[in-house]
Amino acid sequence: MNELLIDSSDGVLTITLNRLDKKNSLTRAMYAGMADALAQADADACLRAVVLQGHETVFCAGNDIGDFLNRLASGQESPAFQFLHAISIFSKPLVAAVCGPAVGIGTTMLFHCDLVYAGDNAAFSMPFVNLGLCPEAASSYLAPQLMGYGRAAEALLLGEPFLAETALEMGLVSRIVPPSEASALAQRQAHKLAAKPLLSLIETKRLMKKSHAPIVAERLQEEGVSFARLLTEPAAREAFTAFLEKHKPDFSKA
Ligand code: COA
Repeated sequence: MNELLIDSSDGVLTITLNRLDKKNSLTRAMYAGMADALAQADADACLRAVVLQGHETVFCAGNDIGDFLNRLASGQESPAFQFLHAISIFSKPLVAAVCGPAVGIGTTMLFHCDLVYAGDNAAFSMPFVNLGLCPEAASSYLAPQLMGYGRAAEALLLGEPFLAETALEMGLVSRIVPPSEASALAQRQAHKLAAKPLLSLIETKRLMKKSHAPIVAERLQEEGVSFARLLTEPAAREAFTAFLEKHKPDFSKA
């Protein structure tokens, strides 16, 4: 089955994560497909908004841990980095529907979305430290900006999850709905956007993001270098192996 579903209707391109048996964790092919879809949507004047969604039960469990273990995920030429670059500079409105767990990049990609509609079962987490890693997607900058340093430290240093209500209060999420309604709401809002003048949308988004854009671009690079280095360290290898073998990691030697 195709792990990434892409379709378009009336100016809205919809990207659906479809790897449910692995909780929509992202493989290299899925990152590459998402990066291509965003590039296509940016270039095609008929496409005016993008919806990003998972399933009612799970949005995305982050990067595929097996790929991490096999060192298939690092480097600026990697599909993951290409996707993060594409989403961070995407010029048109990006609407996300998020239900269930949104782990790692499943949360950090949302910092680059314009409207996020969350199911009341949504649970966000950025457990990079618990995996021996560091933040990506410029989340080391964007999380403290959005959440304040104290809450960002709980989320990024302790790796503590936060729920939809907290995400709404901090402005990461625009509205909370029953999980069965999140995708339809995202579609409705995206179609509303697609009916508006495209150049005004692009210019408004550019102006809203202008002051952060250079810092985001620079931080994305810097995090990418650190992330790639940490992936090869003993702590990360221990965390990935422990996850796949379904036991707790032992960092006493890492
Ligand atoms: N990479 C690879 N496989 C993953 C995965 C990931 N990121 N997340 C889940 N899976 C796999 C599990 O290994 C399991 O596979 P199996 O059926 O072959 O054993 C399957 O998906 C179901 O996962 P499971 O953990 O049993 O589901 P759950 O409902 O109990 O928990 C999550 C769901 C998302 C909370 C949990 O899977 C999780 O924490 N995943 C890892 C998230 C993570 O650390 N991602 C990296 C962030 S940088």
